Order: sequence, then C-alpha cells, then structure tokens
Amino acid sequence: MNYRRLSGCSAVLMVLALGGLAGARAADPVLERGRYLVTIAGCADCHTPGYFLGKPDTARQFAGSDVGFEIPRLGVFYGPNLTPDKETGLGGWTDAQIGAAITSGTLPSGRQLALIMPWRAFATLTKPDVSAIIVYLKSLPPVRNKVPGPFGPLEPPTSYVMKVVPPEVQNVAVQVGGSLAERWCASCHDVARTPQAGSVEQGRPLSFKAIAVQTSTTRESLDRHLSAAHTGMPDFSLSPYQRSLLIGYILSLR
Ligand code: HEC
Ligand code: HEC
Repeated sequence: MNYRRLSGCSAVLMVLALGGLAGARAADPVLERGRYLVTIAGCADCHTPGYFLGKPDTARQFAGSDVGFEIPRLGVFYGPNLTPDKETGLGGWTDAQIGAAITSGTLPSGRQLALIMPWRAFATLTKPDVSAIIVYLKSLPPVRNKVPGPFGPLEPPTSYVMKVVPPEVQNVAVQVGGSLAERWCASCHDVARTPQAGSVEQGRPLSFKAIAVQTSTTRESLDRHLSAAHTGMPDFSLSPYQRSLLIGYILSLR
C-alpha cells in the first residue's frame, strides 16, 4: 500500500464518521424541531452576546446578551443566559420552570418577565413544541456568563442599553427647550417631566407640569406671560425664539 492509497483510505473513513454523526442528529426529531423553533422565534437574537452590536458571538450562542432593553419607568433588562450552566444559566432549572418562563413569563422567584421577552406570543406554543425547545436548550454546551441587571428605573446600567424613548423627547426643539428651562427656570419652578411630589407645598411657584395641565394654559397665554416681567426676575427678557422653545417644552408635559 503506498502513501497515496492510505490517505485516500482515511478520507473515506472520515466521511463515514461525519456521515454517522449527521445520521445520529437527524435521528432525534425532537431536538431538530427545537432547533427549528428557536431559529424562527429569534431567541438567539436577544440571548447571545454581541448580536445587537452587529457581531454575534457564535461560540457563545444563547449565553446571554450584553445589550439591555430600557423600558420607561420599569428598568433595563438583558436577555439572560439560556445555556445549561448551573450558576449563570438554566442548568439548575426544571423543565416546568423553563416552560413557565417561556410561555407565561413567570420566573421561579415569582417575578414576571418584562414584555420585551415575547412570552405573550409564546403562550400559544403547543406543549410538544415547548418541550422540543427545552430539549434543544439543554443540548447546548454550558457557557458561564452572568448577564447584568435587571436594573430598576433609577439604577445606572453597567452595559449597553437600547432605549424605548417617548416620542416627544425625540423632538430636538423640545429637548433644547427643556435644557433652557433647566438652566433658567429651575431655581424657582420644578421643571421636571415628572415633578417631585410636594414641590408646590414647599411654597414654590407652580411646577411646569402643573402649568401645562391647567385648562387656562394655551400657547398664547404662555407667550403673553413670558413676554412680560416675571415675579422675582426684574430683568426677565426672552427672544421670541427662546419663548417658543420654552413654550414647546412646557406644552410637551401635558
Ligand atoms: C426580543 C428579545 C427576546 C426574544 C426574541 C426572546 N427573549 Fe427570552 N428574554 C428576553 C429578555 C430581555 C429577558 C429578561 C426579561 C426580564 O428579566 O424581565 C428574557 C428572559 C427569558 C427567560 C428567563 C431566563 C432567566 O434566567 O430569567 C427564558 C427562559 C427565555 N427568555 C427564553 C427565551 C426563548 C426560548 C426564546 C425563543 C423562543 C426567547 N427567550 C426569545 C428577551 C428575548
Ligand atoms: C426667581 C424665581 C422664578 C424664576 C427663575 C422663574 N419663575 Fe416663573 N414664576 C415665578 C413665580 C413666583 C410665579 C407665580 C407668580 C406669577 O405668576 O408671577 C411664576 C409664574 C410663572 C408662570 C405662570 C404660571 C401660571 O400661573 O399660569 C409661567 C408660565 C412661568 N412662571 C414660566 C417661567 C419660565 C419659562 C421661567 C424660565 C425662563 C421661569 N418662569 C423662571 C418665579 C420664577
């Protein structure tokens, strides 16, 4: 047997071995069904590092996201590690616990998952499909990776965040008006979008929010008020443009 024939021979053996592996996989239709379902449901998108940064870390697929979703007034949530790692993933969870998280958004602790995890849509999955997803997740190599958070609305997140921003804040003119109010008016008025409770009782003039919701407040009434001298501000003088920015901000608080 010369060298050429020998290597040809081992190539045939290799092909046989690979064929054998593929055959073994195809023999588990439940696992394949699970793989298919998590693919079309896009589970990996929100549960894989780097995905939202344009560079999904395929070696650590399903090991948890490094980009959180900021939901106004609720907090920031990162898609957790779904690999079977005992401490940082689903390794210690029962099938029933994993199923409940996917289809009813309920964690073993009783906490309800934020709706950015589309469990409401997954509630319609059939039992066999939920089982198939669980079988697939359990077949993944365990990866140790603890995702940050969840963070409350006032906690600073420690990794990337995708924000859900209310439309009026996206308006640049309103933002500029807001920063003028912050600079020029906040020494007397509470100018925040959500004023602190009790700011009026402390003897301060009306908060901008309270001014905005008065029925007597209109664009014209504000313009008249801001064109005249202002209590406690003898040299109060605003250009029409500055007035329009401030009025736009105040009216956005409605
Ligand atoms: C749009 C993004 C998104 C998609 C798509 C998504 N998830 Fe999630 N998932 C999340 C986020 C974010 C959380 C954490 C929410 C929270 O903490 O309130 C989560 C939480 C979970 C949890 C709880 C894990 C834990 O440790 O708390 C499980 C299990 C889960 N998802 C499985 C899945 C599966 C399976 C799929 C696909 C069928 C899926 N997710 C699709 C974003 C997503
Ligand atoms: C030195 C304190 C002070 C500052 C600074 C101040 N205000 Fe006032 N503002 C008052 C007081 C006191 C009142 C209530 C009495 C009045 O109407 O004159 C008032 C009333 C108002 C009202 C009328 C509220 C109503 O009853 O409808 C508006 C509008 C207003 N301020 C806007 C502003 C804007 C805009 C700025 C910043 C450019 C500003 N204020 C800065 C003290 C201040």
